[in-house]
Amino acid sequence: MTDTLTKGGGDSATDASDDIRIELSSVSHTFDTAQGPLPVLNELTFSVPTGGFTAVVGPSGCGKSTLTRLIAGLMIPDAGEVRLHGELVRTPRHTVGMAFQNPVLLEWRSIIDNVLLPLEIVPNKLSRADKEARAMSLLRLVGLDGFEHKRPSQLSGGMRQRASLCRAMVHRPEVLILDEPFGALDAFTREDLWQTMHAVRKEEKTTCLLITHDLREAVFLADQIVVLSGRPATVQHLMAVDMGHERSLEDLYTPESTERLNILRHQIEIAQGRDKPDS
Ligand SMILES: Nc1ncnc2c1ncn2[C@@H]1O[C@H](COP(=O)(O)OP(=O)(O)OP(=O)(O)O)[C@@H](O)[C@H]1O
Ligand SMILES: [Mg+2]
Repeated sequence: MTDTLTKGGGDSATDASDDIRIELSSVSHTFDTAQGPLPVLNELTFSVPTGGFTAVVGPSGCGKSTLTRLIAGLMIPDAGEVRLHGELVRTPRHTVGMAFQNPVLLEWRSIIDNVLLPLEIVPNKLSRADKEARAMSLLRLVGLDGFEHKRPSQLSGGMRQRASLCRAMVHRPEVLILDEPFGALDAFTREDLWQTMHAVRKEEKTTCLLITHDLREAVFLADQIVVLSGRPATVQHLMAVDMGHERSLEDLYTPESTERLNILRHQIEIAQGRDKPDS
């Protein structure tokens, strides 16, 4: 038995409108390119409740990273609204933390100084000691204590990505946006990071939006999965993943998870135009 919701409806936690952290209403966006207008997003409507974890999957180039920039206020949509906890997003937000596939750590700074960077930019009243305590508590949470004085090049790819996660969260953002953060890692490191992400989420209770191409990753981490269609992207399918917050990798091999993965794979084939939707 699966808990797939129909598009835009159902009984998901997002119905509690006063408790919605990220809300997209009919968001559309078109880029002007040398070849003419390129419609990328088409009337996207979905929301992420406070403390929720939503994964967005969809074909390459369908507009997923564009969506993250709209939520972070780095761009304004042509039509529709993005709201963060009810407030219309029109400018870049400090309350959003972001981590990407490439961690882009600064080589001339130690790991802890890289993690501290947002606290040097975002206004706050913390003392240097408080800032360092905050950074160290995150580094401990992701298993990097003891590496705080190393340079980024002295760490493995997985460790750099852990540090990047700490940097994205150090200023306690209300919303954490992860754009394929584990995409460049080998399968085992990636699974380790998924478990770290669970621990981080449990401790920090941040609202998360994850962009991924990995359906297992989406099922393992998210409580809601949004499947976007090919460009211009619409919300093709919404799935609630009702597995609770205590998850282990074995949970990916249950009949329920297999069924969820099959539904998602089928939806991706439709999005890529390789299959027809069921009538
Ligand atoms: N600033 C821009 N100007 C013009 N076109 C853009 C701009 N940014 C993105 N695009 C185009 O918009 C489309 C969507 O890009 P986007 O990066 O959002 O896709 P994506 O779903 O994140 O892709 P991927 O899965 O490969 O990361 C692509 O065709 C891209 O070339
Ligand atoms: Mg992208």
